[in-house]
Amino acid sequence: MTIILGLESSCDDSAAALVTADRRILAQAVVGQNSAHQPYGGVVPEIAARAHVEILPKLIRDVLTEAELSIRDVDAIAATAGPGLIGGVMVALLAGKGLALAAGKPLIAVNHLEGHALSPRLADPDLGFPYLLLLVSGGHCQLLEVRGVGDYRRLATTIDDAAGEAFDKAAKLLGLGYPGGPAIEALAAEGNSREVPLPRPLVGSAEPHFSFAGLKSAVQRAAACADFRREDIAASFQQAVIDCLVDRTRLALQQTDAPTLVVAGGVAANGEIRSALASLAEANGRQFSVPPAWLCTDNAAMIAWVGAERFGAGLCDPLDAPARARWPLDENAEKVRGAGVKA
Ligand code: KG4
Ligand code: ZN
Repeated sequence: MTIILGLESSCDDSAAALVTADRRILAQAVVGQNSAHQPYGGVVPEIAARAHVEILPKLIRDVLTEAELSIRDVDAIAATAGPGLIGGVMVALLAGKGLALAAGKPLIAVNHLEGHALSPRLADPDLGFPYLLLLVSGGHCQLLEVRGVGDYRRLATTIDDAAGEAFDKAAKLLGLGYPGGPAIEALAAEGNSREVPLPRPLVGSAEPHFSFAGLKSAVQRAAACADFRREDIAASFQQAVIDCLVDRTRLALQQTDAPTLVVAGGVAANGEIRSALASLAEANGRQFSVPPAWLCTDNAAMIAWVGAERFGAGLCDPLDAPARARWPLDENAEKVRGAGVKA
């Protein structure tokens, strides 16, 4: 059975995993850097890159030890090659290249977004192509028709902030820690989502794009106003994001015959968002699939899984594969410019 070693370091999580082509996760380890970045309210690229250098070699040894394997037993090495913070991206990619060269194994240079996009197929053996994917993470908010491995059609993207970025910024305004998503979700559970009037940017507009910058500004005004409790602001903010995601995804469902709606990326760890999208799929006669929460946030099992899918299709990469700060899944998608996006 094919065994893939996956490596990830494109943002603030260092991760290694061993995954088989028949969907067994032999071992996996993720080490986050939340405490290192917490004082700054966001990820500091230089701190992140240094931390990856320190931790990743140990994680690789740990997963091999846990699975009782040596690098010789691995069939290929899959490393994230972008998009992301370039100093961090280079850590996993160079580690992967070094191992591939030393052990004589093929290298698979993985697009991190493809990791999120295909992660639902690791969790759900019945999930076939095509599916409509809502990819919601710290850096991205996109609707994609996933037609096959490496075959994506982007239907929509954000014209300013990503959904996870909006959670992180709102959390900072409310004095909560980084990352903001889990903190907002916990606080929102104690609040009333109808208490604070907040906008739903782009809801009802003709194309299914997203916008969250105006929502962040509205949270800033609400946080400065003594009338509102923080838990009510958190609940109202979360509901506004849900309303935007549901409205935009409903429109995108009209633009594809794909039988399944899938949600992935760090924001898909949010329980309220998962259940709102499950209801939307049901109301539109579609199946619904979402990976377990640990597979939604950054990890190396999803990178190893892309490795398994690509290795199975004969798609390996040369050892000079570049690290890429930007790397769209749909290279043909038109640039979308909106308020707040510089030309
Ligand atoms: O996919 P991910 O781990 O990293 C990127 O590739 O960006 O996503 C991280 C993002 C962060 O913005 C974080 O606040 C958000 O996912 N997130 C959540 C939750 N857990 C993580 N957002 C909302 N609710 C959550 N429970
Ligand atoms: Zn990610």
